[in-house]
Amino acid sequence: MSGARYGIGAICVMWGVLLAGCHDGLKDLEDIPFEPTPYAIKDPADFTPMLIPEDNPMTAEGVALGRMLFYDPILSRDSTVSCATCHHADKAFTDGLPVSAGFGGRLGKRSALSLQNVGYFNTGLFWDGRSATLEEQSLHPVADSVEMASSWPEAERKLRDHAEYPALFRKAFGIAKVEEINRTTVGKALAQFERTLISADSRYDKVMRGAVRFTESERRGRQIFFDAEPGVLPTGECGHCHQPPMFSGLEYFNNGIDEIRDLTKVKDKGRGAVTGSVFDNGKFRSPSLRNIALTAPYMHDGRFQTLRQVIDHYNEGGHYAENASPNVRLLHFSERDKADLTAFLLTLTDTAFVRDPRFIHP
Ligand code: HEC
Ligand code: HEC
Repeated sequence: MSGARYGIGAICVMWGVLLAGCHDGLKDLEDIPFEPTPYAIKDPADFTPMLIPEDNPMTAEGVALGRMLFYDPILSRDSTVSCATCHHADKAFTDGLPVSAGFGGRLGKRSALSLQNVGYFNTGLFWDGRSATLEEQSLHPVADSVEMASSWPEAERKLRDHAEYPALFRKAFGIAKVEEINRTTVGKALAQFERTLISADSRYDKVMRGAVRFTESERRGRQIFFDAEPGVLPTGECGHCHQPPMFSGLEYFNNGIDEIRDLTKVKDKGRGAVTGSVFDNGKFRSPSLRNIALTAPYMHDGRFQTLRQVIDHYNEGGHYAENASPNVRLLHFSERDKADLTAFLLTLTDTAFVRDPRFIHP
C-alpha cells in the first residue's frame, strides 16, 4: 500500500507545479521538519502538580493536533460524531443531556463527564474509574458502538489518507511513516489537548486568592458545604466527598440515589463492574463540582435537572443501600440553607474557562 502511495507521491513532486492537486499527505514525511515547541502546563497554586507521562511530553504541536482531532468527526464511522459532539466547551465539556447520544443518535447509558482539570485525575477516568490514563481513555469512544461506532483500523486508515494529518503528526511526534499514525499517537495527541483544559479561575478561586469576597449568602453556603460552623449552621457533609481544589474526592461512593435491597441486583454496577467486588456495586466517582451550574442534568444517569433537586436529595438523607456512605444522611436544611448552598455552588463557575479561545473549535 504505502509503496504505491509514495510512488504516486514521487510523481506528484515531479509534476507538482503542473498538477496543483497533489497534497501534503503524499510527501515524504521526513522532509517535514520536526522541531517541537515544549508546552509548559501552569499548575494553579493550590493544585497538586499535573503528572505528565514520560513518553508523551507536552508540545505546542501535540496540543494543536489533539485539538483538531477532538473537534474532527473523522474518528467516527460515518464522520458525523466528534469528541465535541458530547463534550461542548460552553458546557464545561458536557452535553446537557441525561445520557449522551452518539452515532446515529444512539443513547449511551451514562451522562457525559466534564473534561475540566481532567489532567489531574490520577485515580481512574470515567464514572467508574475503568480507564487509567487519558491516552488509554481516548481509545474507548472511537470503537464504542453507541459513541463513534468506528474501529481503530478504519479511523487510522482515514487519518493516513488525509490531506493534512500526516504532516501534523510528523510535526507533533516526528513520525517517519504514515503507518505511525495509529491509535497510540492519536491517543497521545488527544491527551495533550485534554491536559490543557484547566479551570481554576472561578469566583471561588478569586475569593481564595483574596481578589474578591463572598456575599453573605455564598459565605454561609460555603460553611454548610464544609461543615465549618457545627452547632451554628447545619453540616452539609459535602466536603468529605467533593474536596477542594477539584471539588471531587477522586474516590468512589454510593451517595444513596437509589434504594438497593440487594447489592447483587444493581442496574448499573458502576465501580463494582471494575473491581468485581459486590460491595462496590452502585458506587461512582464523586464528580467534580467545578462549573456545576453549567453541567446539568446531574448524576451518572442525569436524573436530576436542577441543583435544587440535588440538594433536596442530600437533605432527605438518600435511600437505603448497605454500601451507602454514612455521610449521606438527613440534614435538616431550611429554605435559606438550600439557597445559600446553591449560591456557593454557583461560585464554582469559571466563565473564562468556558470561553477560552484556546479550547474551542480550531
Ligand atoms: C457519544 C458521546 C461521547 C463521545 C462522542 C465522546 N464522549 Fe467522552 N464521555 C462521554 C460519556 C457518556 C462519558 C462518561 C462515560 C462513563 O463514565 O462510562 C465520557 C467520559 C469521558 C472522559 C472521562 C472524564 C473523567 O472525568 O473521567 C474523557 C477524558 C472523555 N470522555 C474524552 C473523550 C474524547 C477524547 C472523545 C473523542 C475521542 C470523547 N470523549 C468522545 C460521552 C462521549
Ligand atoms: C458520600 C460522598 C458524597 C457526599 C457526602 C456528597 N456527595 Fe455529591 N456526589 C457524590 C457521588 C458519588 C456523586 C455521583 C453519584 C452518581 O452519579 O451516581 C455525586 C454527585 C453530585 C452532584 C452531581 C454532579 C454531576 O456532575 O452530575 C452534585 C451537584 C453533588 N453531588 C453535590 C453535592 C452536595 C451539594 C453535597 C452536600 C449536600 C454532596 N454532593 C454530598 C458523593 C457525595
